[in-house]
Amino acid sequence: MHEVKGVIARGKGAPVSVETVLVPDPGPGEALVAVATCGVCHTDLHYREGGISDDFPFLLGHEAAGTVEAVGAEVTDVAPGDVVILNWRAVCGECRACRRGRPWYCFATHNATQPMTLADGTRLSPALGIGAFAEKTLVASGQCTKVDPAAHPAAVGLLGCGVMAGLGAAVNTGAVTRGDSVAVIGCGGVGCAAIAGARLAGAGTIIAVDTDPRKFDNAIALGATHTVDSSDRDPVSAIQELTGGFGADVVIDAVGRPETWKQAFYGRDLAGTVVLVGVPTPEMQLELPLLDVFGRGGALKSSWYGDCLPSRDFPMLVDLYQKGRLDLDRFVSEEIGIDDVEAAFTKMHAGEVLRSVVVL
Ligand SMILES: NC(=O)c1ccc[n+]([C@@H]2O[C@H](COP(=O)([O-])OP(=O)(O)OC[C@H]3O[C@@H](n4cnc5c(N)ncnc54)[C@H](O)[C@@H]3O)[C@@H](O)[C@H]2O)c1
Ligand SMILES: [Zn+2]
Ligand SMILES: [Zn+2]
Repeated sequence: MHEVKGVIARGKGAPVSVETVLVPDPGPGEALVAVATCGVCHTDLHYREGGISDDFPFLLGHEAAGTVEAVGAEVTDVAPGDVVILNWRAVCGECRACRRGRPWYCFATHNATQPMTLADGTRLSPALGIGAFAEKTLVASGQCTKVDPAAHPAAVGLLGCGVMAGLGAAVNTGAVTRGDSVAVIGCGGVGCAAIAGARLAGAGTIIAVDTDPRKFDNAIALGATHTVDSSDRDPVSAIQELTGGFGADVVIDAVGRPETWKQAFYGRDLAGTVVLVGVPTPEMQLELPLLDVFGRGGALKSSWYGDCLPSRDFPMLVDLYQKGRLDLDRFVSEEIGIDDVEAAFTKMHAGEVLRSVVVL
């Protein structure tokens, strides 16, 4: 057993606390990872607010880079000393989706099987099967993707969730291609990554939409060609005006609320694509004329983790970062300590940061 400090959410809406966490040595198929950095993602806040499940207490944190410290029996994909980014979709290779050659839809993804616990033995639910606001964490070895150790961990660790989800929502799920017009609603970490992905894919017009105009500096730096303050004007007509009256080819909802999804639905061109990457909460409902769904055609998609394959995408994106073509450093607004996660939630809620990154 390893005794480490970790960030725990004990109950719905209660402030998080730093507590002792017991992490077992890795068993078969597992890896023990010394966490270097872990970004604060909106999904951690969703967990704390009870928006994902009621399985409290949670060990939060899931956007991490670190070094493999030990591996269990039968682990061949990573070894102690490997610098890795953790992923929350370690595909099984055997389910129907995997066998059909669509492993990004895998519905039997792997996590560690042994529990991490509080000092009194209470079993913890690690956020997204990771739990990396902790000095060490236990994961399935497939959740470790080896990357170039020279890359700055605070930056590349963000590929472990928000940046990959946003970038992949544009590139993989939305299949943005050269010359496309793209609108992104919500320009936090995920939305800005979608903007960066749209630029990488060669989009022409890239419209950043947010209710908070402070978000536009980063959005523009990462590739937005136009901005729309949707606290001030109707984003649907603004997107249409900026796309010759048509609407965008691909609209990405990186907020995940019924009203933003409707803006995406009506802000796209006929036969365009809507990508929902923001995560709704259980009580949210959508009402829409079915005739509009039929009449406007196109594709209405959701993006889990940017439809990524960590083993394919993480090393490739780290390479683009190192070549100066993907500015991951811009996503790191601040580096903070393990005691500062609650304060980081407050800053996130107030829209003051793209990402706070805990350095362990
Ligand atoms: N699908 C996935 O795999 C995946 C992965 C990671 C995160 N997420 C989700 O993506 C969403 C965004 O995460 P984030 O970390 O970027 O959050 P964030 O808080 O950093 O950013 C949210 C942004 O949306 C803006 N916003 C809020 N309400 C808005 C509205 N009505 N219209 C326009 N803009 C609005 C905010 O001003 C902010 O800039 C969250 O729901 C998160 O849970 C999904
Ligand atoms: Zn599978
Ligand atoms: Zn996340």
